[in-house]
Amino acid sequence: MGMGSHERYFLDRVVNKVIELESDGVQIYYGNYSKYVTEKELRFLQAMKEYESQQKKIKRMEDQIQRYRIWGEMRDSEKMYKRAKELEKRLEKIDRINKPIVDKKAADFHIDMVERTGREVIKLSDIKKSFGSNKLFDDVNLTLFYKDSLCILGENGTGKSTILKIILNEIAPDKGSIKVGSNVTIGYLPQEVSFDKEDISVADYFSYHYGISLGEARKELAKILFTGDDVYKHIGTLSGGEKSRLKLGMLIYEKVNTLILDEPTDHLDIESREVLEESLINYDGTLLFVSHDRYFVDKIATCIAEIDDKKIKLYEFNYEGYKQEKQRLTESQQVFDETKEERTVSQGRETYIKKKEEQRAKEKAKRDLAKLENSILETENKIIELEKILNTVSDEWDLNEYNLKYNEYIQLKDDMEKMYEELDKFNIKGESHD
Ligand SMILES: Nc1ncnc2c1ncn2[C@@H]1O[C@H](COP(=O)(O)OP(=O)(O)O)[C@@H](O)[C@H]1O
Ligand SMILES: [Mg+2]
Repeated sequence: MGMGSHERYFLDRVVNKVIELESDGVQIYYGNYSKYVTEKELRFLQAMKEYESQQKKIKRMEDQIQRYRIWGEMRDSEKMYKRAKELEKRLEKIDRINKPIVDKKAADFHIDMVERTGREVIKLSDIKKSFGSNKLFDDVNLTLFYKDSLCILGENGTGKSTILKIILNEIAPDKGSIKVGSNVTIGYLPQEVSFDKEDISVADYFSYHYGISLGEARKELAKILFTGDDVYKHIGTLSGGEKSRLKLGMLIYEKVNTLILDEPTDHLDIESREVLEESLINYDGTLLFVSHDRYFVDKIATCIAEIDDKKIKLYEFNYEGYKQEKQRLTESQQVFDETKEERTVSQGRETYIKKKEEQRAKEKAKRDLAKLENSILETENKIIELEKILNTVSDEWDLNEYNLKYNEYIQLKDDMEKMYEELDKFNIKGESHD
């Protein structure tokens, strides 16, 4: 777009929103014209950075495949060919980012990247919290594992919301530590949802917030039941339930791998509740939520943490199992002799825990494999670097330095062989990395 300084000045004075038509939809930029130009540039640079970093990674993998081939030929090794094949498969699986073009960028701006977390998602150790003389709890020890759907139960005022806020770093505990695992991205749905902008339509907000076209925004909004004229409603006029629904839709769109929800069904009508349940049942990540809604807890929770008497107790059951266990505990407290029933309950419990342990062992194996593959790639890269250096040896080289580098090289190769042996063990066990 060619433009004189005069027109530009004029646009800057009168424009507060720039809508750009592109082949695949509309881009909205807020602010005056100058801001639009800067923002456009920023979005482009960001996309370019992501593209370039992926290209580098692809190049490294391609080089490595080439090396395996050469090694395979030199040593006539089937193993090396197999590794080349494996790496090729991984390369194929990479979701490639398109190269951004100056005039069209936002369509490819969002990359699907729901990354899984480590096994321990959130770990609370020895947490203690009081507000003045109001002691809520001490000695809270609680670990949220990958793919858990943990519900916190407790009477009103026992500190459920406070625990969530401690995790989110909104409230500091008096004692104890909170560890958030690697790769964890948290999305939080508070009890009362608010938005930073209210005098704007739902569709505009969504498209503005994520820098996506209006068309794309409407497609996303339809998934959370904002259809037809709903998308033109201003945020400020939405009901509490609609606000929660919009916020949840945003979290899901952001592909966070951990959701923290505080009484999510509180304001929801039946239809919205169904959308919420459906989304959570299909949700791929880890869930931590507070709810009084028995029906909802029954459907969603895989384990229950209950705050009682200023302590938190974990029940590794779903809601049904939790109720049975509570029952069992009361009965055994009353020294009630019903051995039969007790046995069935504890058997149910054992199978549940066993299943859970198996699942965790599987997850652990997967994670170990991913780790190993990463180390292999890293070591490979180091070897390549060292080979380059060792191959360009010149008179200026200090012999000691050369020897050091050479020894390092030999060591790395050694490590590599060991890692491959490890990798073969995984293959024997029939684990695959997808
Ligand atoms: N920022 C705060 N300052 C002082 N007291 C608070 C604060 N936040 C919560 N409380 C008090 O702590 C207790 C627990 O609150 P909360 O975590 O919201 O309970 P729950 O979510 O279980 O109903 C309540 O008695 C509440 O009044
Ligand atoms: Mg609360």
